[in-house]
Order: sequence, then structure tokens, then C-alpha cells
Amino acid sequence: MTNLQGKVAIVTGGAVGIGAAITKELAQNGVKVVINYNSSSQAAESLVASIKENGGEALAVQADVSNSDQAAKLVSAAVDTYGQLDILVNNAGITRDRSFKKLSEEDWRKVIDVNLNSVYNTVSPALAHISQSDAGRIISISSIIGQAGGFGQTNYAAAKAGMIGFTKSLALELAKSSVTVNAICPGFIETSMVAEIPENVLEQIVAKIPQKRLGQAEEIAKGVLFLCKDGAYITGQQLNINGGLYM
Ligand code: CAA
Repeated sequence: MTNLQGKVAIVTGGAVGIGAAITKELAQNGVKVVINYNSSSQAAESLVASIKENGGEALAVQADVSNSDQAAKLVSAAVDTYGQLDILVNNAGITRDRSFKKLSEEDWRKVIDVNLNSVYNTVSPALAHISQSDAGRIISISSIIGQAGGFGQTNYAAAKAGMIGFTKSLALELAKSSVTVNAICPGFIETSMVAEIPENVLEQIVAKIPQKRLGQAEEIAKGVLFLCKDGAYITGQQLNINGGLYM
């Protein structure tokens, strides 16, 4: 088992939703957390304050990770502040759901940029640092939509499936090192993203979930913790946390 005390993590989009749950879980386990946010500055600062009140270590860094210069500055801020980087959680993501007939090029590009190109943008500057860790972890929060597709989600599904392919390929390339690369594929989790689904559509989705409920952000965070702590021999995998909706 890996001792996480003193390890350093970046969580992109780490101030709200699933990202915030991941941030809290890692901090509670002794990880110094760099909370990346784009526009949620208040949420990020209050999360930093509450982690510090509980004896943890955290730093909030604004960066739009769809921009490679800003992503590089995020990684520099982490390494300059804490002297190392062990864990990168690619969590930042957005939806712009439209049926394909109505999907604009802008909606296509924006979702690919924020959800998928951001992974390249962060891993690229982070890898040299993570490679120096005795237990490096690159974890990308993909989605059941990248595995099964979703109505009105061609852009999001393509990005999330892209994260899975990226994960498998990088895992192969890094398998001889101490760095593991994995994806977590959440199902429908109770966040503001899912709250935007029209009520009648959401009811139909929940009815199809074998466990008959939405997941909680903390249930995804536990998956991240597991991969960080106990995942030394797990690489290139998709960890499905979806109440049985996709098997
Ligand atoms: N399955 C089948 N038909 C569907 C459908 C579905 N899931 N959703 C919508 N439709 C149908 C509608 O009933 C309607 O049919 P009629 O024309 O026969 O009445 C038609 O599609 C609407 O088509 P439009 O071209 O007008 O669709 P639109 O461009 O207005 O898009 C939508 C509608 C944006 C897809 C809207 O239905 C929607 O938001 N659906 C929810 C999408 C969704 O589930 N998003 C998941 C977000 S959470 C997430 O992504 C997190 C994660 O990782 C899991």
C-alpha cells in the first residue's frame, strides 16, 4: 500500500462537484492538493480554507486547462510550491448537449478542448515531475458516455472515449516505470451537470440504473483514493462506478 502522506496532487476542476470530492478525499489522506479552477474562485478558496482548518495543505490555482500555456503554469505553480508532483487527476469537464443536427462547430470544439485537449495540456508538462515519484498516478475522469454513448452528446462522448484511448496508450508507454495511468468512468452522479438534464429525461435514466439511484461524488473520490493507495499493479484500466448501468 502506498503511503500518501506528503504526496502532491493536482486536481483539475477541483473546486466543485466530483473534483471537490476528490480534493477533499486526497487531503484527508495527507495529500497536499493543488485545486485548479477556471471560474469558481470562491469555491476554490473556501475549499482551501476548510482543508487548512482540518490540518491539511492546499493551494488554489486559476487556469483554463484547455489552454496549454495556462496548464503549464498550473503545473509550475504546484512544483514551485511543493517541490514535487505525484498525482494528476484530469477531472475538468463540461457538457454542451445538443442533438448532432443542432451541434455547432463551436460546441464541438469547446467540449473537445476542455475535456480532452486539456489532458494533453496537463500531462505534457507534468509527466517529467510525476516520473520522479515512487508512486506516480495519472487518473482521468472519463464517463460512461465515452463507453456507451449518450443522446445529444456526440461531442462529450468523443472526448470521454478519447480519454480512455489516451489512458491505455500512455499506460503501455509508462508500464516499466512507477507511474500508473487509469481512467475512472462515472455513471450519472448527483452534480450540477446532471441537474441540467431535463427532469423527464433524468427520470428515464434513473429508471434504467440497476441500483435505481444517482451516484454520489464521494463514491468517485473513493475510486481515486483506491487507485492512489492500492493501485500499484493497476494500469491502463477503466474503473466503472455507475450503479451497474454499463457492465
Ligand atoms: N433518447 C431518445 N430520444 C431522446 C432522448 C433520449 N435520451 N433525448 C431526447 N430525445 C428526443 C426527444 O424526445 C425529441 O423527440 P421528438 O422530436 O420525437 O419529440 C427529440 O429527441 C429532440 O430532438 P432535438 O433535435 O430537438 O434535440 P435537442 O437538440 O433539443 O437536444 C437534448 C435535446 C439536449 C439531447 C436534451 O434532450 C437533453 O439535454 N438530454 C439529456 C442529455 C443527457 O443525458 N446528458 C447527460 C448530462 S450528464 C453527463 O454527461 C455526465 C456524465 O458523464 C454521465
